[in-house]
Amino acid sequence: MTNRPDLPPEIARRRTFAIISHPDAGKTTLTEKFLLYGGAIQMAGQVRAKGEARRTRSDFMQMEKDRGISVSASAMSFDFEKYRFNLVDTPGHSDFSEDTYRTLTAVDAAVMVIDGAKGVESQTQKLFEVCRLRDLPILTFCNKMDRESRDTFDIIDEIQENLAIDVSPASWPIGVGREFIGCYDILRDKLELMDRADRNKVAESIQISGLDDPKLAEHVPVHLLEKFLEEIEMAKELLPKLDPEALLNGSMTPIWFGSAMNSFGVKELMDGLATYGPEPQVQSAQPRNIAPEEKNVTGFVFKVQANMDPKHRDRVAFVRLASGHFERGMKLTHVRSKKQMAITNPVLFLAADRELAEEAWAGDIIGIPNHGQLRIGDTLTEGEAIRVSGIPSFAPELLQTCRAGDPMKAKHLEKALMQFAEEGAAKVFKPTFGSGFIVGVVGALQFEVLASRIELEYGLPVRFEASQFTSARWVAGDQTAVDKFIAANKQHIATDNDGDTVYLTRLQWDIDRVGRDYPDVTLTATKEMM
Ligand code: G4P
Repeated sequence: MTNRPDLPPEIARRRTFAIISHPDAGKTTLTEKFLLYGGAIQMAGQVRAKGEARRTRSDFMQMEKDRGISVSASAMSFDFEKYRFNLVDTPGHSDFSEDTYRTLTAVDAAVMVIDGAKGVESQTQKLFEVCRLRDLPILTFCNKMDRESRDTFDIIDEIQENLAIDVSPASWPIGVGREFIGCYDILRDKLELMDRADRNKVAESIQISGLDDPKLAEHVPVHLLEKFLEEIEMAKELLPKLDPEALLNGSMTPIWFGSAMNSFGVKELMDGLATYGPEPQVQSAQPRNIAPEEKNVTGFVFKVQANMDPKHRDRVAFVRLASGHFERGMKLTHVRSKKQMAITNPVLFLAADRELAEEAWAGDIIGIPNHGQLRIGDTLTEGEAIRVSGIPSFAPELLQTCRAGDPMKAKHLEKALMQFAEEGAAKVFKPTFGSGFIVGVVGALQFEVLASRIELEYGLPVRFEASQFTSARWVAGDQTAVDKFIAANKQHIATDNDGDTVYLTRLQWDIDRVGRDYPDVTLTATKEMM
């Protein structure tokens, strides 16, 4: 992170991030306020409304609406002061962790939202751990401070202990619950006062010249001031100061306190992201890494979404640009197939709506409509045979056999399943023996989503049935040993949707047995998507 050359200003002003949280902590509300301050929407409340409209356009989302969970991720770009923010939405439900994981490969930072009354919840913890794997910088927003919340030190302690990360307060709350009046902005010595009457109003901000400034007493009732001064003294003694370097290497998170619903603390968080948040970072790739300032354009697909418009069977590949300056109409090489693609109608996810992208820079997310050529993990370059690495595919934890209601429609079923496999929504295995397909997912809810999408999008009723297998492992190793292994275990062998060989397992015992009997064969639970 240090000793990096200065980035071209257009790239340096980009902040590409995701929001991670436990359901209900306030991610949607915070997103809405981000867009409001980014000038992308005129009035709060439009994100939800817009979300609904988008959902009706892609009809499978009926189920998402019914269940009130988000199964799809999208991207939103908006300007904040001199910065361009790219917010990549992560699906909130725990069943979609693989999708979430891949989304996090496309961002440079994460904003972690926690509920001030609940602290670190299970889903926050899981998502945090994923960010940790990549040392992603994390900025924390402690939300719902307008309600009864936990003691500030308790919240900070809990984050430090549960997540093993240093926490540095960027602001400090004054008063609790009904008595919460605002925050002291530690980074800029300002008093921010919340307006409960107008939820969309930016807080009144008063410059303070240090904690003994008499202005504090003018705005803060005596009993709250005493407690605040006591706490902030203690905080200064006990808690670390913000170290920008530690933030960037993921070992420290600054925390802001606020209330997304009351638009309070949000602007300070955005300022923090702009000031301290990372610029577009170097992308790991083979045979060499990609630096954002490189002249040539490279990008990689981290998500594919099909049937965004049911009238056209289009798919949109979400591409994170890793380097260069992209212009519409450019011809890029699709490294996997070595074919050139003219990118004539790229989509930029400007928060207002989908819009044609005339240009984009390293750090941006663009959508490329295509007919299935682009898959998750694919790299696009200006000719160099380079492949982005680190986008994993996980072995599914649940397997079921999938059959078409009408046996004559098996071919259609195969097509539908392959499409979902390419989207990353499921793994599809074709066993060497027997008919039908075995579908693997990470969470049980995905079977329902798939069944309802296949019916809606392909007019094909399907049945998912219990399978004798419970998991799958990719097979690797010395070719002769692998061939021998496959020949002797045909009833367990299948090919995945990319044509790679997998070993279907019933019990951990199966995996242990292979380890014992075939020392030259390796079974793996993840594979790199390249
Ligand atoms: P999520 O996307 O993380 O699931 O959370 P979301 O923003 O939908 O917020 C969950 C609930 O918390 C919503 O209430 C929302 O209004 C509320 N909320 C968000 N921020 C704050 C805050 O700063 N203070 C308080 N008191 N509440 C907040 P809901 O009743 O589920 O929905 P709604 O009817 O208000 O839309």
